[in-house]
Amino acid sequence: MPPIGFEGQVAIITGAGGGLGREHALELARRGARIVVNDLGGSVSGEGGDEAPAQRVVKEILALGGEAVADANSVATADGGKAIVQTAIDAFGTVDIVVNNAGVLRDKSFASMTPDLAEAVIAVHLLGAFYVTQPAFLVMKQKAYGRIISTSSNSGILGNFGQSNYGAAKMGLVGLTRVLAVEGRKYNITANAIAPVAKTRMTEEVFGHDFDELDPKLVSPLVAYLASDQCSTTGEVFSAAGGLISRFFIGLTPGYYNPSLSAEDVADHWDDIRNEEGYIVPEDVNGELRKILNAVKGS
Ligand code: NAI
Repeated sequence: MPPIGFEGQVAIITGAGGGLGREHALELARRGARIVVNDLGGSVSGEGGDEAPAQRVVKEILALGGEAVADANSVATADGGKAIVQTAIDAFGTVDIVVNNAGVLRDKSFASMTPDLAEAVIAVHLLGAFYVTQPAFLVMKQKAYGRIISTSSNSGILGNFGQSNYGAAKMGLVGLTRVLAVEGRKYNITANAIAPVAKTRMTEEVFGHDFDELDPKLVSPLVAYLASDQCSTTGEVFSAAGGLISRFFIGLTPGYYNPSLSAEDVADHWDDIRNEEGYIVPEDVNGELRKILNAVKGS
């Protein structure tokens, strides 16, 4: 495999003032990408704002001999998303790569969840990805090239206590990724999601003094590969933690078919319905439709 490089390419990385986003920005910059370091600069829960974290990362990139500009717009509004993409256009003339990484936490058990906590978290993670990716997608479509990487989480994919707002937003990003993969295919725009596990300020309470192996730096090689023109994979979700990279996928069991189905049939065949043996991994809705038509039309 030739070395992965981004010479002449422009990447927007949201929430890149620290943690995982900073590592992605440094990794892509070292490999020649010009970077928009976006970060609102607030707390883990998204309170406050400060341009300093984004500017610090820009300085680090310049010190490496790279090119970068800071952007302190929030991803959580449509205007903010447009402004972030405009920063890329104004500074570097285009955008090739978007890494949706900005995120906040406002955990509460579902019984105590409030509309404010739900909306704020969904606005940053899920709507934020919409708002940044859409104006970038228009540029990518015109040039018939683009790479979109969105940061999901095992909290949504697998479930985690106290994170109904966060988990819903993160699984929403999987849905967005899969639709962008379908819509981007004919324009050579790929969309993939990552589910990282890393020791950052967001997780330091959970990991405490242990788990230094889960260095956020070790997530960035996956981002770099997905962001490169060498990778044509699209619509997929990858776990990345401490140097271990795996694929999450959505499988469909062979199931049980009965054209005069009753609730008792469902109960009687519950084990068959749930049996994972012989599952398929449909690429999009057509993959499932083919299977359904096979059953109902016998074709
Ligand atoms: P972090 O707190 O260091 O990074 C998040 C960054 O997003 C912060 O710098 C913050 O200022 C920025 N941000 C927040 N709201 C913003 C907004 N409205 N507009 C622009 N920037 C904003 O935490 P970490 O761990 O680096 O998180 C990065 C991403 O990875 C997040 O989306 C997080 O949910 C996700 N993630 C992290 C995991 C981990 O184990 N650290 C696990 C699964 C997902």
